Amino acid sequence: MPRLAACSAVFALVVLVGYLYVTEKQPVSVMSAIMRAMEGDDWEIEDLLPKEIGRQSQSQREEDSDDSYHSSSDDDDEDALLRPSRKKLPSSSLWQKYSRVLNRASLCLCAAVLACLALGSAAVIYSYRSQPRPELHWWQRAVIYQIYPRSFQDSNGDGIGDLRGIERRVDYLEYLGVEAVWLSPIFKSPMKDFGYDVSDFTDIDPIFGTMADFDSLLKALHARDMKLILDFVPNHTSDQHHWFVWSSGSRDESNPYRDYYVWADGRDGGPPNNWVSVFGGPAWTYVASRDQWYLHQFLPEQPDLNFRCPDVRRHMENVLRFWLEKGVDGFRLDAVKHLVETADLSWHEPPNPGYVSDPEETLEQYGSLLHPCTTNLEETHAVIREWKALLDQYSKKGSYRFMITEVYDDDMRVLMTYNREADMTFNFNLLGLGSGAHAPGNHTRRLVESWMSNMTDGQWPNWVIGNHDNHRVATRVGPQYARAANMLLLLLPGTPFCYYGDEIGMEDARVSYNDTKDTFALNNPETYETKSRDPERTPMQWNRTENSGFTDAGVRPWLPLHDNYHRLNVQVYCLTFINVLFPQTQRAHPRSILHLFRALVELRKEPTFLYGTIRYFLSTPNIFAFSRTLRGRPTYLVAMNLGGKSETHSYYSWWDGWPREAAVVLTSDMDREGEMLDLKALTLRPGECVVVKWGRAWN
Ligand code: GLC
Repeated sequence: MPRLAACSAVFALVVLVGYLYVTEKQPVSVMSAIMRAMEGDDWEIEDLLPKEIGRQSQSQREEDSDDSYHSSSDDDDEDALLRPSRKKLPSSSLWQKYSRVLNRASLCLCAAVLACLALGSAAVIYSYRSQPRPELHWWQRAVIYQIYPRSFQDSNGDGIGDLRGIERRVDYLEYLGVEAVWLSPIFKSPMKDFGYDVSDFTDIDPIFGTMADFDSLLKALHARDMKLILDFVPNHTSDQHHWFVWSSGSRDESNPYRDYYVWADGRDGGPPNNWVSVFGGPAWTYVASRDQWYLHQFLPEQPDLNFRCPDVRRHMENVLRFWLEKGVDGFRLDAVKHLVETADLSWHEPPNPGYVSDPEETLEQYGSLLHPCTTNLEETHAVIREWKALLDQYSKKGSYRFMITEVYDDDMRVLMTYNREADMTFNFNLLGLGSGAHAPGNHTRRLVESWMSNMTDGQWPNWVIGNHDNHRVATRVGPQYARAANMLLLLLPGTPFCYYGDEIGMEDARVSYNDTKDTFALNNPETYETKSRDPERTPMQWNRTENSGFTDAGVRPWLPLHDNYHRLNVQVYCLTFINVLFPQTQRAHPRSILHLFRALVELRKEPTFLYGTIRYFLSTPNIFAFSRTLRGRPTYLVAMNLGGKSETHSYYSWWDGWPREAAVVLTSDMDREGEMLDLKALTLRPGECVVVKWGRAWN
């Protein structure tokens, strides 16, 4: 807008000066010219002169009859008055035409000047009016915090986290400023995939506590205005679920659970087709009692439900109703792209031409095939839409019930289809965040832009930098860049998902094969380190005492703690009595990554970050810089150096109305706040990210 105003004003000025210059050479009454031109009359130049002169001129002309051009020697004194103009303005028909055109041009120029001035003023007024802000739902405003329940807080000394433990830490969640919590599965489960193998969808596993503990946690969260999101695992159950136990018993018509799972006859003594499990190896397991094979797209202990069976659909809908009635605020839908398979189970999946085999792998890998028979079927989308409609019914009755789907896929169009069907699908782009070499600046821009530019109107973005299936962000990008990564997560437009512990920069722990618990890794002993998800699931680091406050001293936690917990934990990063007793620590604490996280949560509440647009201002091999703007609010520039050496760039832009200097709002090291930074030559250290702002709030 300021650009438009400036351009209009400059243009108006140029036009005005041009006009004055022209009329200097053509001294006629502008208003008369306008009137005449508007009436469309033929007129003489004398008509525009003062009356007496005009009259004299008329009589003179009559006297001169057909001689319209006099020599100066014959003129009397009065004629002399007219001489200069008559000399310059011969009343030949050519000149009359020329005058008419010139005066019509005057009219146009005047109109242009007025239009430009009006446009300029409108632009100025517009730029100081606030941008309309849509009503945002809670899940659009909130920072959503993912808790892996086994690893957050143990309350009963068994070395495994539980619901009471989480409730004990609700103060901490409030202190962080997060407004919603997503719990990985807490339902009854034999824990082959740590809760993602459910044996009862409507009961709590005793490891985590009781239904009363759940109710109490939900109440505690709601009491503090926090929402609770549960993990819904619809694609498969545990092989211990009574549905599967019954289903695998027989294929008799009389068996009501006969079709609850995906069963098929074998072929040539082997499985029905070539399908491969996500965890490697065949996706089929033989059951003698039915003399048939069942499908499992994950572990053999996780048989796939048959969503072509109406009873399964009805049951799963009832599961959602059960938790909605209890008052949960939303669901994260696990592995949904695998829900429905082709009706004809004899079809093979085609080989993936881009797959490069790894000689170290003993099992056939999921990536070796393409998956048109088992993923993203139209029937799958139909089921998701049904569930969304169900949640919408509940939203209408009270508070909004939120739904996000988990889909790992390379095809943006596929992801955007899921994104439209639920409130959102996870955006995993930032799991590919890089640092150091390999042009992380440009790369980050591509990751951000590819999501933003593929969204269609009305869709809401979200960002993930870590979860229970991927290495921790501080390990992936390096601890030096973890702060910048958190800044990116919280300052981009949309909803950020924070994985527990990332707010203090927790890193992957080394977990030996003997200590490994993840079945996916245990099934692949040769390559367990590349497969295991245990390193990112280790216990939360609360303090420097034995077991870091996660569980009692002397207890063996279900996974080993990272040995850096003595120096990297919530307590050393907080203002506690320890900091008071040891001023040295206290001086250090205000700049901790935990405080940075809290400051970011606060900053994100600023309307520019909630509603503002993003512009990719600069990306170089190492730098990624974007601005957030909202009319009527200050503009923010976020610039980060993800490379390995310091870099100086100019962020000043006259054209955009950006200043030469701007005030620092926040930096990754929290050491320059309040300073004025020279945007013409701003140096960023490796891993450094700064947020500066300018402009005033008008509303
Ligand atoms: C999802 C979960 C993962 C689990 C898998 C099978 O991808 O995030 O942890 O192993 O589904 O349920």
